[in-house]
Amino acid sequence: MSVLIKGGRVITAADDYVGDVYIEDETVSLIGESLDVEADKVIDASGKYVLPGCVDPHTHLDMPFGGTTTIDDVESGQTAAAFGGTTCHVDFIIQPQGSSFADAFDDWRSKANGKQVIDMGYHMAVTDLREGGSLEELASLPDQGITSYKLFMAYKGALMVDDETLFKTMEVAAETGALVMVHAENGDAIDVLVKKALAEGKTEPKYHALTRPPETEGEATNRAIQLARVAGCALYVVHVSCHEAVEPIALAREKGWNVFGETCTQYFFVDYTFLERPNFEGAKYVYTPPPRDKANQELLWAAVRNDVLSAISTDHCAFLWDGQKTLGKDDFSKIPNGGPGLENRLHMIHEFGVRDGRIGLNRMVELLATNPAKLFGLYPKKGTIAVGSDADVVVFDPTRKHTITAASQHSKTDYNLYEGTEVTGTPETVLLRGNVLVEGGELVAEPGIGQFVKRARFGEQLTAVEAAA
Ligand code: URP
Ligand code: ZN
Ligand code: ZN
Repeated sequence: MSVLIKGGRVITAADDYVGDVYIEDETVSLIGESLDVEADKVIDASGKYVLPGCVDPHTHLDMPFGGTTTIDDVESGQTAAAFGGTTCHVDFIIQPQGSSFADAFDDWRSKANGKQVIDMGYHMAVTDLREGGSLEELASLPDQGITSYKLFMAYKGALMVDDETLFKTMEVAAETGALVMVHAENGDAIDVLVKKALAEGKTEPKYHALTRPPETEGEATNRAIQLARVAGCALYVVHVSCHEAVEPIALAREKGWNVFGETCTQYFFVDYTFLERPNFEGAKYVYTPPPRDKANQELLWAAVRNDVLSAISTDHCAFLWDGQKTLGKDDFSKIPNGGPGLENRLHMIHEFGVRDGRIGLNRMVELLATNPAKLFGLYPKKGTIAVGSDADVVVFDPTRKHTITAASQHSKTDYNLYEGTEVTGTPETVLLRGNVLVEGGELVAEPGIGQFVKRARFGEQLTAVEAAA
């Protein structure tokens, strides 16, 4: 099957030109002006942007969490992703305490089997090095294409690890070339604050934020950076939400350390006041770290513009408001933590980042596709449009208006963080390895088309042979 995408404005992290993209056997085989080639399918992209498929480095599909399981499984979550122009993501395997990493990997692979709409890789969330996985087993994961280890420094009594586990994992990563990811919050201090709030009868959703002050994120971010420095590993701080966490990352990067940070779409748009919405509406915005004071929003835009933060993810971790978030009706600490977002990252960043003049188109591509692909060992197979790359392509209409609503989304959840937001610019046609996924507002491919991708180690490039091995 060959596809010719004709006359679009091709935008990568580095380039911006009008040209034709020719796809054969799932990869880009030719790029040029007015290519004289025959193709099985021709897509007229004049007046459209031709973007690399976006890569989301932080999602949670089919994950047991907070006394329930996320409402989006691999099929619904990846369908939402495809409609939003994301063609590859990296999800988290959560090691159940007492379980080996191999068992956890098998379990997550079997949950995805036959359901995949886009390509995916996995990070391994380490929860237990005493009874469950061993250091040797952890060290073997990069050979299987799992080249990042995630540690939760919060969620005491559930996923949180102590500094010993964090540091030992960092030492393994320094040996194996894996990237260490941290959810950076001081879980012990937060646990004290949560218990105190509940004892004082403070049960509403807003106390989720009031018991997780930004300093607890700043402290843990700095601790993780300093420990990574001692261990000698590369570090990626997930879902950075506030000034207190941006500052130590900026400092580390100024020193030239291998420290990276991401923020998520929601932190630019949802602030603390959303948690105060009446009638338990505030529970929709209970995710961690919590929505912060509005002053942090422009600060985060500056951080992504200036390369203090390297990527924008969604942290898609969707629950129903009616039926799952309500588990915490009388106790904010029982509201499952997480929010949806896989479908709207490109919409929102294009509208309020590019169209509002905060970042350029090249930087948008870098933040949503190229940098996540580079940091997580998917580049240059993913994250760019170049000869030899996977033909993961978004034909994006920058003039078409779209209103974001829960009623029209593809996630199974019953609300949208950006409900009613009107954007100008939306994906029109989405291709995965040259196969059309989305066209004319429909999903035209069958689940099962997506593949597991074995990722390269941090700083190494992924070749087609390695990815398929
Ligand atoms: O509230 C969130 N972010 N839920 C997902 C798990 C995590 O901490 O990333
Ligand atoms: Zn987290
Ligand atoms: Zn997360």
